[in-house]
Amino acid sequence: MCGIIGYVGKTDATPILLDGLQRLEYRGYDSSGLAVMNGGNRIDLRKCQGRLDNLRKLVGSRPVAGNCGLSHTRWATHGAPTDENAHPHLDQSGKLALVHNGVIENYQPLRKRLESEGHTFVSQTDSEVLAHLIGKHYEENTEGTAEMRLVHAVRASLGLIAGTYGIVAMHADAPGFLVGARLGSPLVVGLGKGENFLASDVGAIVAHTSDAIYLRDRDLVYLTQNDFKIETVEGGSSAFEVSHVDYTAEQAERGDYPHFMLKEIFEQPETVANAFRGRLSDDEASAKLGGLNLTPRELRDVERIVLVGCGTASHAAMVGEYLIESLARIPTEVETASEFRYRNPPLDKHTLIFVLSQSGETIDTLAALREGQRKGHRVLGIVNSVGSTIARESDGGSYLHCGPEIGVAATKSFTSQVTLLTLLALLLGRMRHLSMGEGQEILREIRALPEKIESILQQSEAIRQIALKYIDAPGMLFLGRQFNYPSALEGALKMKEISYIFASGHASAELKHGIIALVSKTLPSVFVAPRDSVFEKNVSTIEEVKARKGPVIAVTTEGSTEIESVADDVIYIPDTHECLTPILSVIPLQLLSYHFAVARGCDVDKPRNLAKSVTVE
Ligand code: G6P
Repeated sequence: MCGIIGYVGKTDATPILLDGLQRLEYRGYDSSGLAVMNGGNRIDLRKCQGRLDNLRKLVGSRPVAGNCGLSHTRWATHGAPTDENAHPHLDQSGKLALVHNGVIENYQPLRKRLESEGHTFVSQTDSEVLAHLIGKHYEENTEGTAEMRLVHAVRASLGLIAGTYGIVAMHADAPGFLVGARLGSPLVVGLGKGENFLASDVGAIVAHTSDAIYLRDRDLVYLTQNDFKIETVEGGSSAFEVSHVDYTAEQAERGDYPHFMLKEIFEQPETVANAFRGRLSDDEASAKLGGLNLTPRELRDVERIVLVGCGTASHAAMVGEYLIESLARIPTEVETASEFRYRNPPLDKHTLIFVLSQSGETIDTLAALREGQRKGHRVLGIVNSVGSTIARESDGGSYLHCGPEIGVAATKSFTSQVTLLTLLALLLGRMRHLSMGEGQEILREIRALPEKIESILQQSEAIRQIALKYIDAPGMLFLGRQFNYPSALEGALKMKEISYIFASGHASAELKHGIIALVSKTLPSVFVAPRDSVFEKNVSTIEEVKARKGPVIAVTTEGSTEIESVADDVIYIPDTHECLTPILSVIPLQLLSYHFAVARGCDVDKPRNLAKSVTVE
C-alpha cells in the first residue's frame, strides 16, 4: 500500500519520479506528491489529492528541478485523501522531506509532545509526525556532517515509534543524499551507473536498472549517486545481496490493451504455461517442485496441510484444498491469513503450511508465515514477486513466474496459483494413492490448458454482449459447487472489486438456505456448472432460480447444450479433467466482470478504495 520512489543521480529527478509513481500507482492512488532538492539548500514540494495526472499538471504549471528527490503515491490510512495529507511531509524547519508507507501506531502521543514543544502540523497523518521527529533530532544534534546527522536523526526517531514503515528522507543541508529504512513495508535499492534509487517495488525502477537489493526489516540505507551503505536501524552491520531483476519495463506496460486487467487476462495461456513449464515429470506421471526443499521422505510424512492467503489468493487456496484432498487424500484446510495470525490453531509437527501471495508483501500473509515459523513449522511460499519479503522469509516454495500483475483485481495470478497447487497435489498424490494412469491423464490435461484458455479468450466479445445485457443489474449472485465453488467466490470478488455492484459467491446447494430469498427478475445468477460429477445437481438449482424468474448466466462445458433450455445465456468452456475446471471456468467470470465494469464507466485498473498490495493491517 502506498508507493515510494526516491532518486539521486545526474539527471533531472522529476521525470524519473513521475514515471516511477505511474508504475507504482497500483499501490494506492488517492493522492501523490514529490519533493526535489535543487542543490541550493532548498526543497521544492508539489503534492495534491487525486490521481497522478493531477500531480503531473501541478508540476507542469509549477516546475521543479534537481537531481535528487523523493515521491509517493498514497492509499490513505490516517487522514482523508487531501492535498495536506498527501506525501511528502516536511518537518518544522521545512528543510527535511519524508515519504512513508506503513502505520505509526503511537503517533498521537508523539504529536502531542511535539506540539507542546512548539511544532505545528498541517496534516492529520501519522507520517508528518515522523518527519517532525526526525527534523527535531537533526536540529538537536549538531555534531558531524549534515549527512550523518540525518542518518542519526532517522535512527533515533525510528527507535521511538511503534508500527511499520518504509521511508525515504532527505534534508536540504545534505544535497544528493537519501536515507531509507524499512520495517514491515517493502523497500528496494536500485543500483544504477552514477545514479541510485529507492522504491517500494522494483517495478518503479526496472526502466533504469536491473540490479536491486531487497532490504530486510530493520535495514537502514543511505545513498548518494555513486555510493550506498546498508546497516541496521540500530547501527549494526547488515548482510545484503544484489539481485538481478528478471523482468523488463515493457512487461509492466499496457501495450495496446485498454487496461492492464484485460492484458493480464489475455496473458493467461502463457502465464499458466510458465507455471508448469519444466515442472512436469512424464516418467513418474508426477510433478517436480524442487524449490520446496523437502525430501521425498519428508513429503510422504506430511499428514496435514494448511493453505493461507488473502483475497484472490485465498480463493486459489480453496481450490487447492479440493485438489490436495481429492488427489493426495491429505487433510487440508484454508485459513484466511488475517484470522490465522491471531488464532491459535492446534497444528502438529507433521503439518505443512503454505502461504500464497502474488505480491509477496501482504502484511497479514507475512504475519501468518512468521506465526507458523514461530511454532516450529516449515512454511512454504507460493509467490509471484521474486525477492519479495514472503519469498525471502519462507522456507522454500515455488514462484508463479506470471510476470508483473499491475491491474488491482488479480486475474493471472489466480490461474497460476491454481496451476501450481495442481502440481503440488499431483506430486503428493503420486507419492500416495494416485495411479500412474490418472497422473498421466492430469499431465496431459495440464499441457492442454494454454490452448483451451486461448479458445475461451476468443469469446471475449460474446461475453461482453452478455455483460451489456445485464448492465443495469443491481447485484449478481455467483454459484458453483465442488472445485468450482471457489471459482464462484472469485467471480463475485472480481465483480464487486471493479464494478461496485453487490455480488456474492455461494456453494450452489446453499441457495435454498437463504440466498434464494434474493432471487428476482432483476438479479442475475451466474452458475459455474461444467459437466462434472455435480452437473445435474447444478442444473436442478438453475431450474429453481428460473422457477422464480431469476435470470441465469451459465458457464458450462462445450457440448452441454441441454443447459440452454434452462439458462438465459450460456458461455462454454472446453472439457478438461474435473480438477482443472477452475482454471478454465474463472476466465469467463474475469471477462464478464471486466466488460461489465468498463460498460459502467468504472476504472477497472484502479478501483476505488482498493490497493494491490496491502502492506498495512
Ligand atoms: C489485495 C488485492 C487482491 C489480492 C489480495 C492478496 O486485496 O486487491 O487482488 O488478492 O490483496 O494479495 P497477494 O499479493 O497477497 O496475493
